[in-house]
Amino acid sequence: MRIGVLTGGGDCPGLNAAIRAAVFRGVKEHGDEFTGFRDGWRGPLERDAFPLDAAAVGDILPLGGTILGSSRTNPLKEDDGVARIRRNLADLGLDALIAIGGEDTLGVANALHEAGVPVVGVPKTIDNDLSGTDQTFGFDTAVSIATEAADRLRTTAESHHRAVVVEVMGRHAGWIALHTGLAAGADAVLVPEKPFDMAEVTSHVEARFRASRAAVLVVSEGARPAEGSLELQTGERDAFGHVRLGGVGERLAGELERRTGREARSVVLGHLQRGGTPTAFDRVLATRFGLHAADAVRAGAYGTMVALRGTEITRVPLAEAVGTLKTVPPERYAEAEVFSG
Ligand code: F6P
Repeated sequence: MRIGVLTGGGDCPGLNAAIRAAVFRGVKEHGDEFTGFRDGWRGPLERDAFPLDAAAVGDILPLGGTILGSSRTNPLKEDDGVARIRRNLADLGLDALIAIGGEDTLGVANALHEAGVPVVGVPKTIDNDLSGTDQTFGFDTAVSIATEAADRLRTTAESHHRAVVVEVMGRHAGWIALHTGLAAGADAVLVPEKPFDMAEVTSHVEARFRASRAAVLVVSEGARPAEGSLELQTGERDAFGHVRLGGVGERLAGELERRTGREARSVVLGHLQRGGTPTAFDRVLATRFGLHAADAVRAGAYGTMVALRGTEITRVPLAEAVGTLKTVPPERYAEAEVFSG
């Protein structure tokens, strides 16, 4: 079979491992040929493609980023986007497409599947907010990077008797903040799922300073105050209509300094969480997803996404994966609250 591969949305560590595994399985075991599309959905939309053989992917396992490039191009926003993709796949002689992405990329994949395009999805995102799979690759690496950063920030904060606010990624889901907070022993974890009370956060920090020389708070970029009084959004939107967030960490640190009289600093980890080499866990998960995606194409299991359930890789309908965002449930957040204050 002739198979196209693309990576869309925010990149994450493990994308190259997934590409490599799909190509290896397809070429070596199924006799497939692969075509790489550049920059997410822009590739099939504009027919920007190149041959992808085993030699091209041989050494990419530990590389961060994606050799295919990525973008947030949304073909559903174009009048004839679906028709153009269908035509380009036919012109290139492709039998199927493997789309590696998060909610947005796989949402497009699902729409294309419903329009009759043979597509299989592979879940990725550092945010871990995709339904249908227990975990996405990229998440473990992001949490490891953020945890190391929080540990380092704690020692300098202790030297200077400061509060430090570590802002991590996560617009709508607080998984990175929750896991980083637990792993780094944060004194408060703030997530988008539960609006925070500024007075409560202040009293946690004050309590912390009575017992310790520093306070470390881990905050999702999408966390917001209960009273909704702080303006945290830039107002800009990307091609999928997401508001560009930013500034909650800085606003929080300023407010804490004002309320507690203690020095406070904020650090936005931003894209550091997405760059560089994947952890061993993410390499293995991405590799297994890639292998199973090539198998799903071979089996004609179009409209599905490979998924982790427990320790097994299964297939779930794309529609199930993109229907609702997987957010942090209250009982998981409650685990972190034990350590607040
Ligand atoms: O979707 C993954 C993600 O990492 C979010 O956590 C974050 O808000 C966003 O990407 C940032 O994307 P960009 O690369 O467009 O700045």
